[in-house]
Amino acid sequence: MSQFSHVPKPIPDPILYINALYNQDTNPNKVALGVGAYKDENGKPWILPSVRKAEEIISSDLAKYSKEYPPQAGYPLFLKTCQELMLGDDHIALKENRVATCQSLSGGGSLHVGLCFLNENYEGHDFYFPGITWPTHFVLYEKVYRKTPYFEYTYLYEDGKLAIDFEGMKRDFVNARDGSVFLLHACAHNPTGIDLTKQQWVEVKDIFKAKKHVAFFDLAYQGFATGSFEEDGYSVRMFAEEGVEMVVAQSFAKNFGLYGERVGACHIVHSDKHNSQLSANLQGVMCTIIRKTWSMSPVHGAYIIQTIGQDPELKKQYFEDVKTMSSRIKKMRQMLYDELVRIGTPGDWTPIKTCIGMFTFTGLTPAQVEYIKVKFSVYLLVQGGRMSMCGLTEKNVAYVANAMKQTVENVK
Ligand code: LMR
Repeated sequence: MSQFSHVPKPIPDPILYINALYNQDTNPNKVALGVGAYKDENGKPWILPSVRKAEEIISSDLAKYSKEYPPQAGYPLFLKTCQELMLGDDHIALKENRVATCQSLSGGGSLHVGLCFLNENYEGHDFYFPGITWPTHFVLYEKVYRKTPYFEYTYLYEDGKLAIDFEGMKRDFVNARDGSVFLLHACAHNPTGIDLTKQQWVEVKDIFKAKKHVAFFDLAYQGFATGSFEEDGYSVRMFAEEGVEMVVAQSFAKNFGLYGERVGACHIVHSDKHNSQLSANLQGVMCTIIRKTWSMSPVHGAYIIQTIGQDPELKKQYFEDVKTMSSRIKKMRQMLYDELVRIGTPGDWTPIKTCIGMFTFTGLTPAQVEYIKVKFSVYLLVQGGRMSMCGLTEKNVAYVANAMKQTVENVK
């Protein structure tokens, strides 16, 4: 008998599990609206033309782009590119040396580094997640904080209305202990697709400043939501300008289409102007965390990011590629909405049009999500009936709308 026979069957990850079910499904009409990964107008994975070009440059100069171990924090050009994409080239926090950056493994790895940093170096704080968030946030937190419980702050209204309860949210920020840490989605909130307005971000920033709260930004969709890095980076850039201390988990999975390359960065923005020693210390601490977990981050994705970021022509092309993705998603939102209305689907489908980024919270119940999966092979996430808009195409949108109509009519 194995000494490991006591090991229980693990609880499946809600997102990866849906994807696995989809892959096994033999229905030719199946539609993947579960995992958030961009697909082109034919429903196929898309490698950005700017990424392809960068890979050509990299493979033509293997002396420069070697396979040697990178510096522990990552290549300096990569780190510079990460900072510039996040904050813009001339941000005051960069001029004041207030940003410490370390390469990491996409969003998950960067969140892990940020959580470890706070847990080990910021004693006695309370940690808050939004009332609804990406389910992986919780498992990442539990892995690091062990038994220390987290708190939740208000996000959507409790009565099921698909809108932010901003008064409730502000109340929670104000009532929290000074110096608490709040996980914030910088843009394109996952799973709801509902973001704060700029004016609301300013109000949140004022509370954070007054209460000395730490903002922990999950920055997974910059550029992907509106097509503009500036627009999607508004919250992070404004908080950094105003000296709110923060951790930022930056991912290049979605906005560069580099899902499997696992490339990203963790940043710590502090408030001590021109204290480059502090920035170096913070970077060093992040390096230590990485050394203790995956040792060193991989180079290929980093080469791609720095090649695009430091070549003006390629960067221009890249910004066009990002617009291609975000425009296609916006178009699919409109098409699905129009079709649902045209065929008289019961319910208010406005959020399909008004939500932002990759996801929409359709409000379909778990029973309806199950029904649409079994009957139509349309795969959504159980949580709020989250729909990844990237799996919609001009060819399948009518099929999906019809499946939704039948579902809401048959399963109450
Ligand atoms: C998602 O929410 O579907 C994506 O962020 C993919 C993932 O890793 O969960």
